[in-house]
Amino acid sequence: MKYIMFPLLTLLISISITAQNNNSPEAKAATLLKKMTLEEKVGQMTQVTMAVFAKGGWANEDGSLDPVALKKAVVEYKVGSMLNTTAHALPVETWRTIITQIQDEVKNTRLKIPVIYGLDAIHGQTYTLNSTLFPQNIAMAATRNPELVRQAAKVTANELRAGGVRWNFAPVLDIGRQPLWSRFPETFGEDVYIVKTMGATAVKAYEEDGLQNPTAVATSLKHYLGYSASRSGKDRTPIYLPEIELREYYLPQFREAVKTGSASVMVNSGEINGVPVHASKYLLTDVLRKELGFEGVIVTDWEDIKRLHDRHNVAVTPREAVVMAVNAGIDMSMVPADYSFYDLLIEAVKKGEVSMSRVDDAVKRILVMKYRTGLFDNPYPEPAAFANFGKPEYQQYALTAAQEAMTLLKNQNNVLPLSKNKKVLVAGPSAQSISALNGCWSYTWQGNDDRWYPADSKTIYQAIADKIGAANVITTTGKGFDNLMNYDAAAITTAAAKVDAIVLCIGENAYAESPGNTRELALPKEQEDLVIAAALTGKPVILVLTEGRPRFITNIEPSVKGILMTYWSGKKTAEAVADVLFGDYNPGGRLPFTYHKSMGEIVMYDRKPTEEIREVFNDNVGTGYDPLFAFGHGLSYTSFEYGDILLSKNTLSVTETLTASITVKNTGSREGKHTVELYTRDLFASITPSMKRLRAFDKISLQPGEAKTVSFSITKGDLAFVNDKLKTVTEPGEFEIMIGDKKAKFLYQ
Ligand code: BGC
Repeated sequence: MKYIMFPLLTLLISISITAQNNNSPEAKAATLLKKMTLEEKVGQMTQVTMAVFAKGGWANEDGSLDPVALKKAVVEYKVGSMLNTTAHALPVETWRTIITQIQDEVKNTRLKIPVIYGLDAIHGQTYTLNSTLFPQNIAMAATRNPELVRQAAKVTANELRAGGVRWNFAPVLDIGRQPLWSRFPETFGEDVYIVKTMGATAVKAYEEDGLQNPTAVATSLKHYLGYSASRSGKDRTPIYLPEIELREYYLPQFREAVKTGSASVMVNSGEINGVPVHASKYLLTDVLRKELGFEGVIVTDWEDIKRLHDRHNVAVTPREAVVMAVNAGIDMSMVPADYSFYDLLIEAVKKGEVSMSRVDDAVKRILVMKYRTGLFDNPYPEPAAFANFGKPEYQQYALTAAQEAMTLLKNQNNVLPLSKNKKVLVAGPSAQSISALNGCWSYTWQGNDDRWYPADSKTIYQAIADKIGAANVITTTGKGFDNLMNYDAAAITTAAAKVDAIVLCIGENAYAESPGNTRELALPKEQEDLVIAAALTGKPVILVLTEGRPRFITNIEPSVKGILMTYWSGKKTAEAVADVLFGDYNPGGRLPFTYHKSMGEIVMYDRKPTEEIREVFNDNVGTGYDPLFAFGHGLSYTSFEYGDILLSKNTLSVTETLTASITVKNTGSREGKHTVELYTRDLFASITPSMKRLRAFDKISLQPGEAKTVSFSITKGDLAFVNDKLKTVTEPGEFEIMIGDKKAKFLYQ
């Protein structure tokens, strides 16, 4: 009996596995692919922007579509994907109508392959009016709280999906090691462990367990690879990166996110060592596909295939550009404003310049993404998803995230918190600006148009007036960042006579991509003049810095008593600022980057020993790691004391785990959140070791007098680095662990 049953059972199991496999997205995609013509395949690889099929093109304001242009895109050119808005965010209902019209048009095609729509929801759903905007990644990194990243991603997925959109061009995994770079605020900062941790958390939250749910969206890891390292700091300008550095700081976060299972990757528009990444078979196929094992869709960034010809000048003709990119490994072209890619790729395939198997490979991946996102089951916006838009609790999530991002940089003689009974002057260009609190990708691409923000968005001036009563607040500013009256230093001098303290809100207005290019990081002189005027009044000055990257304040810092770094923390920035300034919230944010003193002092926290050393003969020009505020800096209204580091043992072997524990006590008089950070240092190694590297962090909350023990597990992988053979290795030897002001050593053997 046993012997008869066994083969029968095996047969049944194998039949059921085959049935399951036939049902898998891969199997379905393979079957569909067989039915497709070359034109249908190339159509799938083509992505166009809304202006191509909206009434009036780029001038469109209301999301109404041009039926003829839509038919041309969907039926004639068979495009597989669409993106973007025209001018600004649209109501969620309009998105549902747009997606419905597109999928209705799909019914007029031979194979009825649904279109996948993609949007840039990088800190909340950018292009839907009244969506919930969260802190930018740079501020999320300051929270050191992955749970907030998870929550923000979930809300964003819900609000995208509510409009019928299933593909998000996020998360940004670029690392912020070039503070001039205009996309610095989109990054999780200068440390690769933070970028890796927060990035993978976001991917998991967006995609859930495989994209089946109406609360999930496909992600796009961007911008692969090395985009943030532009030498000049200007967007999309040449990057020179030795591969050892590329692998140490720029690749690990992509490796981790690929493991987590992202559906797509968007490619860096720039060139590395003279090779545009869109033309790099090495980076796209050898590294991303073969080494990292990425199975999803590789999509270009905006117009980047054309630019191989007309900007990078590596392709002699536009067709050669298409051939180069597709053969390097590109699956989908964000063309995005015409159909040139479609025509040229068909021509190239017919001429044998691109093989049909490369096209099939690309199209299969696109179809798999469409199957996985459920578009073949129902391509329309789901009613259940609509109900997930704008839930009241999202406002609370946004507030918590903004509060946890607030980073108190200076608090001389405990000038903060301010008393609610005192009178304050709230001045500076950010005092009555909404856009300076939200930054890029906020209802418009640039985010700098206050008209599109939700009506209940508060300015810092309003939030403070709401907290301490309008009678206690005066301002010398007008609405909007650029309002001329905001720069009237004499007005501050006069107004200061009537108040006890000055809250001066300065920094940056919103910008995105190349419009955010800047010649220097020092704050504009007219803002420095405001600080000087305020300081000269003799009243305590508290700087509130609303900025996406560290703008140098070295000259003015000594003249102010308090500094609060707000970054661009989204919808609830103003409320969070008021909560911190007046003591309703105890700040606990930690800088996710080094706040440098000047361009001549750009040294990262994970510096090499020779950057650390201050040679006597040139000490006066500031060598070593000597920032204005160090990476990880952030004050609290309470104090924390660390016990000694306890190691589970003094040695670690290849297969073991070492536990490092430390007790942290709140020795102050109020409750506070605190991030315990564990750094390691490899004392001697074959490649000059960093002075410190962040390997783990844990955020805890402590009542006054309370103590908690935090434990971290360390394995071989946590101590690894890229060696001169470009291999990630851990070398035997002595290591130091640093937590707070405590240190301990162990031997890896
Ligand atoms: C940006 C991308 C973005 C794309 C689509 C490009 O200019 O670099 O980050 O996803 O536009 O909007």
